[in-house]
Amino acid sequence: MEFIKVTDNKEPYIALIELNRPKELNALNRQLMEEVRDALQQLDKNDAVRVIIITGNEQAFAAGADIKQMADKTAIDMLMIDQFSTWDQIRKTKKPIIAAVSGFALGGGCEFVMTCDMVIASETAKFGQPEIKIGTMPGAGGTQRLTKAVGKAKAMELILTGRFLSAEEAHFYGLVNKVVPKEMYLYEAFQLAKEIAQLSPVAVQLAKESINRSFETHLDEGLTLERKNFYLTFASEDQKEGMRAFVEKRKPNFKGK
Ligand code: HXC
Repeated sequence: MEFIKVTDNKEPYIALIELNRPKELNALNRQLMEEVRDALQQLDKNDAVRVIIITGNEQAFAAGADIKQMADKTAIDMLMIDQFSTWDQIRKTKKPIIAAVSGFALGGGCEFVMTCDMVIASETAKFGQPEIKIGTMPGAGGTQRLTKAVGKAKAMELILTGRFLSAEEAHFYGLVNKVVPKEMYLYEAFQLAKEIAQLSPVAVQLAKESINRSFETHLDEGLTLERKNFYLTFASEDQKEGMRAFVEKRKPNFKGK
């Protein structure tokens, strides 16, 4: 594993996955997501693990999908790479996953948090879907999950402006379970994990599956539409301009083409 670290002996029944690309604020390149998928599949099969915590570092959970990896891709490249099959496999994890978030959880990073089951946030956490600022839109569930989590008006505001939510706001809107001082977010995630790990793993898994079913019945349709639209933004000059401007550290000039 190059971009994540997995520990399963810190506390009984609890595994910790740490995203580990600190220089890039844990930008989610495809290999990192594949490593997360592989780790989750292993942990799902491991009877000694009942609850999984995913975290980044103090500065960032993850600042989004890797813009440098995507910047020059065409819509067809994006379609054929099919990175979202990895995300679909992650979504199928049977054991409960707690995201322990400090710092940035943006774009794909925020979508990754929303793919988890519960969220403990440091008071420093910042959530957002800023893809619109680089000429694209959420592609890993953001338009569907954020809308279900915070309601239509707030989701529209966040996705159409790219504004960030503070940890407190994210708590107010129901995106996170608890906000704690920055020294405590991992500790609190472990406390929650320990409570769940004492319970029947069978009942916990079945309850998780049932809760997810309650809002996923129509999700496939929403995700399919979202993906096509996300790929389509890669046919625009604005996506090229937005992502190149980010890489070149300048302001983008969008032309609506
Ligand atoms: C690639 C990234 C990155 C990203 C940060 N970096 N975010 N690289 N992809 N998403 C890199 C920077 O290029 C820089 O590397 C280093 O990490 C530190 O970032 P800075 O920008 O210098 O830090 P700071 O000034 O503190 O600003 C932090 C930030 C900013 C506000 C989080 O980095 C930012 O706006 N990042 C992009 C956020 C974003 O637009 N996310 C959505 C991506 S699209 P160098 O080498 O230059 O020092 C997306 C689509 C999801 O997620 C759908 C598919 C899964």
